[in-house]
Amino acid sequence: MGNRYWSAVVHELTPYTPGEQPQCANLVKLNTNENPYGPSPRVLAALRGEIADTLRLYPDPDGGRLKIAIADFHGVAASQVFVGNGSDEVLGHIFQALLKHDAPVLFPDITYSFYPVYCRLYGVAFRQPPLTETFEIRVDDYFQPNGGIIFPNPNAPTGRALPLAEIERLLQANTESAVVIDEAYVDFGGESAVGLVNRYPQLLVVHTLSKSRSLAGLRVGYAIGHEGLIEALTRVKDSFNSYPLDRPAIAGACAAMEDRAYFAETCRRVVAARAMLTAELAALDFTVLPSAANFVFVRHRREGGAALAAALRERGVIVRHFKEPSRIAPFLRITVGTDAQRAALIEALREILA
Ligand SMILES: Cc1ncc(COP(=O)(O)O)c(C=O)c1O
Repeated sequence: MGNRYWSAVVHELTPYTPGEQPQCANLVKLNTNENPYGPSPRVLAALRGEIADTLRLYPDPDGGRLKIAIADFHGVAASQVFVGNGSDEVLGHIFQALLKHDAPVLFPDITYSFYPVYCRLYGVAFRQPPLTETFEIRVDDYFQPNGGIIFPNPNAPTGRALPLAEIERLLQANTESAVVIDEAYVDFGGESAVGLVNRYPQLLVVHTLSKSRSLAGLRVGYAIGHEGLIEALTRVKDSFNSYPLDRPAIAGACAAMEDRAYFAETCRRVVAARAMLTAELAALDFTVLPSAANFVFVRHRREGGAALAAALRERGVIVRHFKEPSRIAPFLRITVGTDAQRAALIEALREILA
């Protein structure tokens, strides 16, 4: 009944489906690529410090302190940084501010499934060059007229990384539209393109604190690029929500950027655990794509992806299965967890496959 009040655009939307966030505590949750280790103790202390009378005041609309902390970490100027409420919000602004042109934006057929959702929301035309047989991005497929290019590196949900030299080859060929590299997972083994932003004014690199800094619950993401690109994003932000980051988020995110030792150590542990997970899954007859992320993308020699995901769910282990596109239906995406979570996963798989 109420839908007769909907705008035309809402009738046409197919919203993004986030991974399940179960309310039941004793599940082994390996479905949304969160970090198995908690945030830095310095982050928790900074958050506690913000739970104070000052919450009656609005936060800094530009998150200036956080921009400085991010700029210091990456060796860029604070004016080259944009911050937002999770990288999803930053990506949303990017589609509207930089990728909406007459020519279609290009992204792979198998990639972060939020990209086509933003395109439909903002009326952005898109084209999806297919990944290769081995699920790799072929940069030459992007040498065609376009209104912008975006992909994650490492890609999601495959985990496969593209060498920086390939990104640079793309930037040299594609100078007339924005090139956006979504580096949500780069800290687990990819090569970052941040070092190229001063040479390529069309390059925008997006990061999140949700994965390598264990802060999915705080909702902080950022983009780094030429000041002209940052200004476009700021114009959209200030036409939508001037205060995307609250006071605790700004304080906690600053502490996370500053605690480099904790960040390096948790990333190292995730990478080590990924190697063990890969070996244990291979021993159970899974093919594991080479991953530079905090998850692995795997297919079993005999059992289908949907059946395995359902059987794991019955045993209290949640992993991610995608029905679409059909090429990835046999696969499961499994987040790298703690040693105990990995043991529970492997034990459940042994039972299922027995
Ligand atoms: C490739 C990619 N980009 C961006 C995001 C969004 O992350 P967040 O909004 O938590 O920063 C995700 C989350 O899973 C992702 O996989």
